[in-house]
Amino acid sequence: MRPVIVALDTDLKRALSIAEQLREEVAGFKIGWDLVLEAGLDPIRRISKLGQVIVDLKLADIPYVVNRVVNKVVEAGACCAIAHGLIAPSLEPDQRIYLLVRMTTPTLYDDLWRQLVPTAGKFRGAVAPGNAPSTVAEVRKVLGCSARIISPGIGAQGGKPGDAIRAGADFEIVGRYLIEEPSRISQWDKLKPTCWNSI
Ligand code: C5P
Repeated sequence: MRPVIVALDTDLKRALSIAEQLREEVAGFKIGWDLVLEAGLDPIRRISKLGQVIVDLKLADIPYVVNRVVNKVVEAGACCAIAHGLIAPSLEPDQRIYLLVRMTTPTLYDDLWRQLVPTAGKFRGAVAPGNAPSTVAEVRKVLGCSARIISPGIGAQGGKPGDAIRAGADFEIVGRYLIEEPSRISQWDKLKPTCWNSI
């Protein structure tokens, strides 16, 4: 198993084919709006039979609504879902939620993310930008191994395979770079998660 989560931002047919191809090679898959808008919960049900699934709808609602959505995706087979760090103050600790602490692109999180990091310890883990390894290193320093760190931004967004892992992430989230060419998975051959062995 390579420390990689494949972001299946593509159509369902291609997503299923990539998931079949890489199921033994990777730690899991990330499903977002693309597949959910195409086919509802069905992609979550089908792909979670092939591996662990994180659902990334970047939730940012009141706890009542967030909990209902998380319940639905977990019932469909996902381990967990991603929520915006901005709503962390209203959420109860929840091992089914990854907290987004900083984006891979410029956002207002750039001024706030340090405030959010300690809170991520109450959740399954933090989502931190793999194309900014110094951020990942700082998040790991604060969290220790108390929570997972998963990092997008590798390949299409400029991060190099392994950059985020070497900075302290457990898993790199990779979309376009692997969807275009699944054999690139060999670029993660010698890498291991920093703290956690499952997503
Ligand atoms: O294709 P690429 O590897 O750039 O895809 C990155 C994936 O990670 C996308 O699914 C995107 O929604 C997600 N993501 C991100 N930056 C964040 C959080 C999630 O790129 N901060």
